[in-house]
Amino acid sequence: MKDVYILAIESSCDETACSIVKNGREVLSNIISSQIEIHQKFGGVVPEVASRKHVENITGVVELTMKEANIEREDIDAVAVTYGPGLVGALLVGLQFAKGFAFSLGVPLIGVNHIEGHIAANYIQYKELEPPFVSLVVSGGHTFVVHVKDYDDFEVMGETRDDAAGEAFDKVARAMGLGYPGGPKIDQIAKEGNPLAIKFPKANFHEDTLDFSFSGLKSAVLNYLNSEKQRGNEINVPDVSASFQHAVVSVLVENAMKTIKSRNLDKIAVAGGVASNSSLRKALLQKGEEENVRILFPDAILCTDNAAMIGSAAYFQFIKGHVSGNDLNAKPGLSL
Ligand code: KG4
Ligand code: ZN
Repeated sequence: MKDVYILAIESSCDETACSIVKNGREVLSNIISSQIEIHQKFGGVVPEVASRKHVENITGVVELTMKEANIEREDIDAVAVTYGPGLVGALLVGLQFAKGFAFSLGVPLIGVNHIEGHIAANYIQYKELEPPFVSLVVSGGHTFVVHVKDYDDFEVMGETRDDAAGEAFDKVARAMGLGYPGGPKIDQIAKEGNPLAIKFPKANFHEDTLDFSFSGLKSAVLNYLNSEKQRGNEINVPDVSASFQHAVVSVLVENAMKTIKSRNLDKIAVAGGVASNSSLRKALLQKGEEENVRILFPDAILCTDNAAMIGSAAYFQFIKGHVSGNDLNAKPGLSL
């Protein structure tokens, strides 16, 4: 079969990203223009600012991606783009650019679900990986345990009922004045703390489901911080970080392991920004070794938002002949 080159665009949140992916697994270039510094001063992503920055950056990012891949326009077989979930204004910028670009090249447009993209990052990292497997998707906007039955067939086994795992990291970090994004900061500081210093509640929704609930845990941390301040006690930031992180990680590991057992599978592929958390990596790898389950993690650059993962997910649609119509629209609330 002829090689397939897909140019992919991702603009669902605060990264303007473009990548060229060959045959779904090989990344020729992967450019990510992050807006983190701009949003940092607001303590989180400001949607309108994000859209405007995408408008400013997208042409340059695509140009640079093509240059780095050393590829001609005629070589591109399809243009892929994230159409949801995400911030509507941000998604529309990438979507409209992708449509115009596909139209000008005369190639198909492929709309990609951002969450499927996160899972597909594992196909780039592990060239031999094929479904079925279990995926633990943990990002700033999503928390899922999924049975990946096929490249385009997902059974959601558990999901969050309120905040996402990354969102909880960001909110707790903010309350301790650690800045945005909070996940990497808590990860770092927790290394100096005791994970058993403070007993915070478990972040599962109910023992009988695989669903998560992080808002109770987040409130417990905020209440703890407030009551310590009121009593005039100094906050031990490393201990709070480590204890909070421990509560998050233990439920993620527990639900991922329960899922794999219920489906009799042997691989867990972790995905999303929180997949780069060092404590999660360590705990899952240890549990995997004990239970004879292979644990897969993409490199950090493929965990947080990027367009290579979108190009990979698009490839598996393309080879099945699944392409999008010209009326493809942004779907901010799209689920798996
Ligand atoms: O996947 P992603 O880039 O964007 C979404 O699709 O949401 O994930 C971003 C999230 C943020 O909440 C960030 O705090 C979190 O991933 N994150 C981490 C770490 N690195 C990024 N959380 C915990 N530990 C980390 N090392
Ligand atoms: Zn994401």
